[in-house]
Amino acid sequence: MLKILVCVSGGGTNLQAIIDGIKAGSITNTEIIGVISNNYGVKSLERAEKAGIPAEVISPKDFADRAQFNKAFLDKVKEMNPDLVVLAGFLVRIPEEFVKEYSNRIVNIHPSLIPSFCGVGYYGLKVHEKALERGVKITGATVHFVNEGMDEGPIIAQKPVAVEDGDTPEMLQKRVMEQAEWVILPKAIDDIANGRIEVVNNKVIRKA
Ligand code: GAR
Repeated sequence: MLKILVCVSGGGTNLQAIIDGIKAGSITNTEIIGVISNNYGVKSLERAEKAGIPAEVISPKDFADRAQFNKAFLDKVKEMNPDLVVLAGFLVRIPEEFVKEYSNRIVNIHPSLIPSFCGVGYYGLKVHEKALERGVKITGATVHFVNEGMDEGPIIAQKPVAVEDGDTPEMLQKRVMEQAEWVILPKAIDDIANGRIEVVNNKVIRKA
């Protein structure tokens, strides 16, 4: 059984997709052992509570500086001792020590086809604003393992989504979530939980 910790910052629709996937049996061999939010009062926390999952807030606002927040965050993760950490809309720069200790055991969902519209400053709605500004006709989502670079780790799965005339960032965000994120993130977790993928030379390959 793969024990996963889900880290969130806001609405938690990806968290919900994981909860629902486990319930429906499309994600197997997986248990959510906890949720960490960096923000108080967000919908993600309600979703966790409703599903009976222990949830905690670790907010940078409660610490004197970033280093102390990073330490508290890492200490909490270690205490929970997950097999896999899922960044499901966790809009926080991930501490380097954390990435080192959990190499190939942290996955992130990003709302574009990496390497487009990713890296510093590309998160949440901003990603879709930039895609519309550039006028791309196809965008999508990517699930990847997290390494020291920003959105640079081995890619597990991607799914394209069409941009439509008249899209607003909100409309595009909704379509990318519905058609891509909520599909590929649960599937990636199921693949990891069932030992179907591995990382070789910084790339994800499917086991025979
Ligand atoms: C999602 O679109 C996710 O891909 C994005 O934040 C949103 C969170 O929504 N993540 C990033 O931009 C990471 N760089 P949710 O809280 O409803 O799952």
